[in-house]
Formats: sequence, structure tokens, C-alpha cells
Amino acid sequence: MIIESDGFVEVCSINELKEKQGKRFLLNDVEVAVFKVEGNIYAVSNICPHQHTALIFEGIIEEGCVICPVHGWTFHLQTGRKQSGSKGLETYPVIVKDGKLFVRVFKKELNW
Ligand code: FES
Repeated sequence: MIIESDGFVEVCSINELKEKQGKRFLLNDVEVAVFKVEGNIYAVSNICPHQHTALIFEGIIEEGCVICPVHGWTFHLQTGRKQSGSKGLETYPVIVKDGKLFVRVFKKELNW
């Protein structure tokens, strides 16, 4: 795994991603779910904020959203927000270079 100087981590070849089928990756200790939808690639947290299950990658894709397979909470892939607009999943920047996907992950900082 290559770690680029700007913080992007090589994740996989683009060919490994199937349309609307999520894949789960552990990148620098961060659980990430990656989706390819209509030519766009999204990287979001794989941990559902509802009961902290690591199953977002198995979610169903509908109208630009991912639906958690456990209880159906729905998140916009682009923003990570819930349908109500409130905060939901973390989203991570992606880059495609030479047929490979790179994602920049960050750990959630706790603000006490
Ligand atoms: S754990 Fe995701 S909706 Fe309940």
C-alpha cells in the first residue's frame, strides 16, 4: 500500500469496484466503505452512526444514497448526511489515478 505525501492512500484498482456494490477497506485503522455509482466513486465511513455496526458497505444504493442494511437509516453518498439533513457518515475525498483509487482518510477527533 502506497501512502502519498498528501495523505491519500492507495485502495484498489478501479476494475475491482462493481456498480452499486460496496466494498469494505481498512485504511490507516479507519473503516471505509467504497461505492461506484454511475461513474462516480464515493468513500464514506463503514460504521453506521445508529448502532455502530460496520455494515454500510452492504447497503443498498438508491437515488444517490446508501441504506444501512441493519435498520434502514439512509445517507447521501456525496455528503454523508441523513435525509433529514443532519450529520450521518463521514465522507472521504477520492482520487482516481492510472486506474487506481486513492482515498484520504482521517480519524475522528474527539472534542472534549
Ligand atoms: S445500525 Fe444502521 S440503521 Fe441501525
